[in-house]
Amino acid sequence: MNIRTLTPLDRLLAGCERALEAIAGTPPADRPSPAADLAEAELDDTERRHAAGLMRVNHTGEVCAQALYFGQAALARNADTRAHLLHAAAEETDHLAWCAARLQQLHSRPSLLNPLWYLGSYAIGAAAALAGDPLSLGFVVETERQVEAHLAEHLEKLPAQDHRSRAVLTVMQADEIRHANAAQQRGGIDLPFPLPTLMHFSSLVMKAVAYRV
Ligand SMILES: [Fe+2]
Ligand SMILES: [Fe+2]
Repeated sequence: MNIRTLTPLDRLLAGCERALEAIAGTPPADRPSPAADLAEAELDDTERRHAAGLMRVNHTGEVCAQALYFGQAALARNADTRAHLLHAAAEETDHLAWCAARLQQLHSRPSLLNPLWYLGSYAIGAAAALAGDPLSLGFVVETERQVEAHLAEHLEKLPAQDHRSRAVLTVMQADEIRHANAAQQRGGIDLPFPLPTLMHFSSLVMKAVAYRV
């Protein structure tokens, strides 16, 4: 295999490609969607719009996850930490692709503000990495725990018969729990007050906006 060292320009172009794929919602998934073998539920218009709103929030959450992980990986101090973050980001790519497919099945679309969410999250991820790997990994732990709790809430809120969306969120939730545990085992520290609270409130803003726009 012909391996060459990546130049800063190569890295920049690869980063732009990943960002565009995430924002456009067309990244290739490694694993088939957990919804693939399930029948489409009968949803009336209100239920379909509600399920689409929830899945749009989850899609945007996954756009943010991509950006956070890539921002953190870009400035990680240690090569092992960087490899770990990029591996987790690859699993998040599956989540992103599954949510994008589910949105299409629900005759809806991703959030129009995804470019903004991506840029903001990338900057936050890079800032977390600048604070050092233990805090950066702690940030992963806190983010993934908050996402896990959020997914539990959405599993309650989905229309009862929407088994496809539920299957997607259930597998995502199991992955997020693994991501949190793995980051903690690698030395992620507890985030100081008020960071967890700030993260929670900014996610509430994102969820309220992405449900509609
Ligand atoms: Fe995810
Ligand atoms: Fe995750």
